[in-house]
Amino acid sequence: MGERQLHSGRIETGIIAASELLVIDSTSAPDLRGERLGHFEIIPDGSVLLGDGTILWVGPTSALRTVVPTGQSFPCIDARGLTVTPGLIDAHSHLVFGGTREDEFDARIRGKGYLEIAQAGGGIKRTVQLTRAASESELFALGRERLQEILSLGITTLEVKSGYGLDQETEFKMLRVARELAEAQPVEIVTTFLGAHEIPPGIPKESYVNEIEQVMLPEVVRQDLAEFCDIFVEQGVYTPDDAVRILGKAREYGLKAKIHADQMSDSDGAALAVSLQAISADHLNYTNPEGQAALAASRCIGVLLPGSDFFLGLPHYPPARKMIEAGVAVALATDFNPGSCMTYNLPLIMTVACTQMRMSPTEVFGAVTLNAARALDRSETIGSLAPGKQADLVLFSCPNHKLISYHFGKNHVHTVIKKGKVVYGPSRLLAYNDMLQQLNHPTHGDE
Ligand code: NIG
Ligand code: FE
Repeated sequence: MGERQLHSGRIETGIIAASELLVIDSTSAPDLRGERLGHFEIIPDGSVLLGDGTILWVGPTSALRTVVPTGQSFPCIDARGLTVTPGLIDAHSHLVFGGTREDEFDARIRGKGYLEIAQAGGGIKRTVQLTRAASESELFALGRERLQEILSLGITTLEVKSGYGLDQETEFKMLRVARELAEAQPVEIVTTFLGAHEIPPGIPKESYVNEIEQVMLPEVVRQDLAEFCDIFVEQGVYTPDDAVRILGKAREYGLKAKIHADQMSDSDGAALAVSLQAISADHLNYTNPEGQAALAASRCIGVLLPGSDFFLGLPHYPPARKMIEAGVAVALATDFNPGSCMTYNLPLIMTVACTQMRMSPTEVFGAVTLNAARALDRSETIGSLAPGKQADLVLFSCPNHKLISYHFGKNHVHTVIKKGKVVYGPSRLLAYNDMLQQLNHPTHGDE
């Protein structure tokens, strides 16, 4: 990289002398594919300057004096011993739902299958009943509590789907709750309409698909409830033809497409996602080589959700290595939901991706930052520490990024910054000049 210029703007905060700074540069390409997924820019002993909610400069600490005008002072965070990364992005979650299904978890451990439980009236349909019965304020309170923990895990942007209503009233209730949560706390929320998550009990599929197309989609857009439209394409649920209809109509209304594809079986879901110009195809456990090649040749992101395989105890993880080698831009997300993945702990999913899909501890960071941003069509504003981008950052209490997936189950998050403001963690700030003095006469740890 050439000389680093200060992006125009007044410096308001400095994050100084991090052991490791994961820049994950997005200037040469909007996503990370092949070799690049595990070989993005990392600066040892790096610093970041922020102002007006954006990143103004990133670079080696030794170059700070060349960009900060003499005499200028601003509050700084002493990041010595810490790893600094872009805010983590969870690009697939079902955050808003009522009730829990621990009895199904118990039954699965005793040998019952996920589909068997679903066919007996459990599964998604069970959460549909519980979500229909929950009031908007109950769902809001549950969501808010979950988001507090999500923020504490370093996640600054979260996608949230509807899909546990399967009727207009409840689908819209879920999306309104997501919109209200976005206003009430710092995690940025991206909403997705997943009316086609299951077939509503007692209603013929054809009439429900008609209702989605003719009534729900135009209303979702009129009330500005969602940016994306998703569908669960699977044997016994929705077919590729349903996806063509629903996502085609969604597109006419200006919604962008996502697909739950090839999760339990190969339904050519990846190729379907590409042909429908979907922004992402999610799950992809059974995606065939042609589907992988189609993804690789497109801008569609493959969002892998190994947490659901881990939690369901299924051996067939998505073929991450093959996809990366084929050139698919791969992201990782939690799939947080009460049935197949009852966790919103994205760093834990990163460890699962390392051990079960052989992604490296460096690759998993690319997959939850820039590629996840791209899966939400936001790679121009978030996902890397590029000057001009939104100042969403995480400071981890460890000297290198590999420790985060390696020492699993521990929350390594020290501080979270959203749009330039400290929103979680100790925010002990000191003046830039004092910080420089500290760097000249290191007394770190014995103040
Ligand atoms: O993403 N694939 C379908 N939907 C969820 C499971 C939802 C549930 O079991 O409640 C998923 O895995
Ligand atoms: Fe899902």
